[in-house]
Amino acid sequence: MSNPKIVILTGAGISAESGVATFRDPDGVWAKFNLEDVATPQGFARDPAKVQDFYNMRRRQMGTVDPNAAHAALAALEQALPGKVLVVTQNIDDLHERAGSRNLIHMHGELARAICLGCSESSAWADDITVQSQCPACSAKGRLRPDVVWFGEIPYRMEEIGEALTGCDLFAAIGTSGSVYPAAGFVEEARAGGALTVELNLKCAGWASRFDEQIEGPATQVVPDFVERILSGKG
Ligand code: APR
Repeated sequence: MSNPKIVILTGAGISAESGVATFRDPDGVWAKFNLEDVATPQGFARDPAKVQDFYNMRRRQMGTVDPNAAHAALAALEQALPGKVLVVTQNIDDLHERAGSRNLIHMHGELARAICLGCSESSAWADDITVQSQCPACSAKGRLRPDVVWFGEIPYRMEEIGEALTGCDLFAAIGTSGSVYPAAGFVEEARAGGALTVELNLKCAGWASRFDEQIEGPATQVVPDFVERILSGKG
């Protein structure tokens, strides 16, 4: 899409009511797993099996959860305003696309893809990744890793995201704590381009003050209302 006017950044909070744990809430993923062990290239080099187990577990969980009303509302927004809406998600689940979002950037990669350490090709991947797994592109065995972006790696499609942020009229962040850069800096990029900035979160704290407006509440309630507000022209 050449010129999106609305850029929506989503984080783990949008999938929370679907049953996917967030990262930094008290019962979050990083309360149970050591980030350094399972989400860094160094952790993977130390213990690849541990890292594969972690993402295999998360990939299997994807089959047990469904998109919620917040994902559906964003898909409806895109359908109502063709060519005007870009969703940038930090989530590696597939709930946005299953809800119907098509103009979507997975800046932290996707659980549903595997990348080959040999040929660097990314392929759709639905099963566990094991030492027996064979790269669909080059046939090498045991060289696949989840196609997700770990700490210390560069998120995907940053140039495209930067252009969209600079050119948008409205930037909204939904269900993210704003703890991880570069996504945490998107609000300033959008504001510098003249966009109205809105945060939607269960609890607006911390980085919420960096937005023009804060909307507090569970995503399944506040996101459909917010979309309705945009579509009724009051956005
Ligand atoms: N509705 C809206 N917001 C919610 C809900 C809900 N039902 N439940 C929780 N939240 C909010 C929390 O208040 C919190 O601000 O979602 C946010 C989740 O924050 P994090 O757990 O830090 O998740 P996120 O911001 O997506 O993390 C960014 O960090 O480790 C990584 O790579 C991982 O992409 C992830 C990145």
